[in-house]
Amino acid sequence: MKAMIAILCMAPLGAPLQAAGNWQLAIHGGAGVVDPGSLTPAMDAAYRASLNRALEAGAAVLSKGGASLDAVEAAVRTLEDDPLFNAGKGSVFTAEGRNELDASIMDGSNRKAGAVAGVTRTRNPVSLARAVMEKSTHVMLTGLGADAFSVQQGLEQVEPEYFRTEERWQQYLQWRDKRTSLLDRTHAYGTVGAVALDQAGHLAAATSTGGLTGKRWGRVGDSPIIGAGTYAEDGVCAVSATGTGEFFIRASAARQVRDRIAWHRESVKSAADNTIKDIGGLGGDGGLIAMDARGRVAFAMNSPGMYRGSVGATQPAHTAIYASEK
Ligand code: GLY
Repeated sequence: MKAMIAILCMAPLGAPLQAAGNWQLAIHGGAGVVDPGSLTPAMDAAYRASLNRALEAGAAVLSKGGASLDAVEAAVRTLEDDPLFNAGKGSVFTAEGRNELDASIMDGSNRKAGAVAGVTRTRNPVSLARAVMEKSTHVMLTGLGADAFSVQQGLEQVEPEYFRTEERWQQYLQWRDKRTSLLDRTHAYGTVGAVALDQAGHLAAATSTGGLTGKRWGRVGDSPIIGAGTYAEDGVCAVSATGTGEFFIRASAARQVRDRIAWHRESVKSAADNTIKDIGGLGGDGGLIAMDARGRVAFAMNSPGMYRGSVGATQPAHTAIYASEK
């Protein structure tokens, strides 16, 4: 047993740690000001049902031996299609009253990655990010170019109105009246993401967002930045972040979690907590989900809540919202 532990600890970075029959998935639907009591029982139940649907979508892939990359894409697509979250349908509005969506995905088995920023017509931006990774020689495409690439790749296109929900529009109107700071923490929730370990031991991560209400000048947050909002590397960890993106970029949040584990031998829990502490020190708030090479999951946040959940080969689906929940 001791010998086996020693071998596992010495596994080279980037190599999967084989975990026969083991698989694990964790998701988030954004962190922010969501205190116990701030949601009606009906809304609380609706969020948990939505999180469970996303867990089911990813678990359906992983339980059959499918790839972690397919699982994170499936889970994030489900959350993008759900108007409750600030990604895909239900995204927040820019200062000009438009929806500009960002997403990224990373394959831990080869550290290939794809990302898009400021896209306006692709129903599922996470799938466009994957197409960038698999069908182009680039990592990130933005704006009109990314929209054009999406059409060329045959991804499902929607009219920009598809993304609009009345609730987000009212939030936008309130923002327009008050000209709230772009980094107002009450606007920071709703980004979605997933991390997964498959039965072959491969890790993957994906993140998708509408960004921040009132963003302008082509603002891009952390979600499509590899190493800030998303990171995955076999043998180390997979990470997806949510929160005030500017701070997550400055802290290289997702990569910081990876470096803490790989270079400082921190546990995934300590690496996730310390990274959020670092972001808090800069003045940022939010959270992240991280999974290590054996599928151990860490949820870290410095906001009162984060929509989140996990499921695994030996763990039934579990969801949580408030920071005080296990
Ligand atoms: N974390 C999402 C954003 O800042 O855009």
